[in-house]
This record gives sequence, C-alpha cells and structure tokens, in this order.
Amino acid sequence: MVINAPSLANLSLVEFGQRLQELKDSGVNFFHIDLMDGHYVPNLCLPPRTVRDVKALCPDAVAEVHLMVDDPMSYLDELQKNGAGWVSFHLDSTRFVRRTLDAIRQRGMKAGVAINPSQPVEAVQPVLPWLDYVVLMAVEPGFAGQHFLDGSMERLEALCALRRRSGLDFQIVLDGGVTYETGTRAAQLGADVLVTGIYVTFEQPDGISGAVKRFNAHFGNQS
Ligand code: DX5
Ligand code: ZN
Repeated sequence: MVINAPSLANLSLVEFGQRLQELKDSGVNFFHIDLMDGHYVPNLCLPPRTVRDVKALCPDAVAEVHLMVDDPMSYLDELQKNGAGWVSFHLDSTRFVRRTLDAIRQRGMKAGVAINPSQPVEAVQPVLPWLDYVVLMAVEPGFAGQHFLDGSMERLEALCALRRRSGLDFQIVLDGGVTYETGTRAAQLGADVLVTGIYVTFEQPDGISGAVKRFNAHFGNQS
C-alpha cells in the first residue's frame, strides 16, 4: 500500500474548488500542498490559507505541506492554525535544521526535510532521529509538471538502504514527475507516499476520479 498524494500545485486556481471536490469524492485523503516564496525557488505558488481551505472541505484528510521557502520557521504558527498535518522544508533553506524540526513537532505536526537532486541523500543522516519523513525530490523544486530526473531511482534506493541501516522508521515521500513506471518501482523499493501530478492524477483521459481509481487498483489500495 502506497499513499497517493495529489500535488495541488497542478490545479488552475480557476477550477481549484471543483477539482478538490472531485479528489475528495474519489476518496483521496492526503494532499500535497506546495508553498513557494519566490526566493528559495524562482516561482510563487499556493498561500498558507490553502491548507485551511483544504481542511474545511476535507476535515479528515492529511494536509502535507512542502515548504520551498527561505525562512521555514516563520510559517509554522500559521500552518498549525490552519490544520497542517505534515510539514517539510528543504535541508539547505535554513541553518537551523534541528531547531526547525523540533518546532514543527512541538506544534503537533509531523516533521520532514526535503532533499534536492544535487544533494547527497546521506545529508539527512545527522537529523534522522528528529524527523518523521524525508521528501526525496526527483526534480529541481519550483515547478509542477517536470520530468523525473535520471539517477533519482538510485537515490531512492540509497535512502531506503540508509533507513534500513539506521534502524529508524521514518517515511519516504517521492516528489516530482512521478509516472506509473517510476511510481511502481519506487513503491517496490520502499517509498511510502507518491506525490502525483500531471502524469498520474491530473489531465488524464478518464478524469480525476478515473485516475484515482486506477491508482488504487494498480497499487492494491482500498478505495
Ligand atoms: C515541484 C513540486 C512538486 C510538483 C509535483 O517543485 O514540489 O510537488 O508539484 O507535481 P508533478 O509530478 O506534476 O511534477
Ligand atoms: Zn512538492
């Protein structure tokens, strides 16, 4: 069983509410919400209030927030207030990784770090005891709809090996350009959450609900 985490950055704001309702009606209960500040990455997207809107429509769903911002600490209070369940930030976005992880957990949320394609996966090792999950980027952060970078599967394999060696049970989220081909292999290797975008959930010929049903059937999930 692998969690389907549709990435809401793929939605047009014009049809956001309608598509969110479709995702909910299809049984999705885990949403990947990208927050970009135009500094850490050269793009702006989704404001923190998106979390509140998602939780208002889907109170039982997990709002998993992926911060691509320069100062992750300054968003935590608002995210907590809005109902975020999981919050991750990039390892190189702050000098105080441990402090930020602790601050997320102190607010009752699951804490994660995200690592970029150019960072060694071992860079997370020093903070593993203080996090709940790692977001492994398979694209450079900043834009939805990019292609899964080569070498990403080997990096996922290395991260899974690191998890086994460490004896810890943090979860692994794979983010960026996931397709059925890469997602299937990633689930076999040990990924727990697949962030899905235009190749799996959105812009599919069978619509959102058909795409979610196909995902569940393919990955053996209950729907
Ligand atoms: C990239 C984002 C991803 C992205 C995933 O910066 O972190 O979450 O929206 O969507 P796809 O799979 O379409 O790239
Ligand atoms: Zn993301």
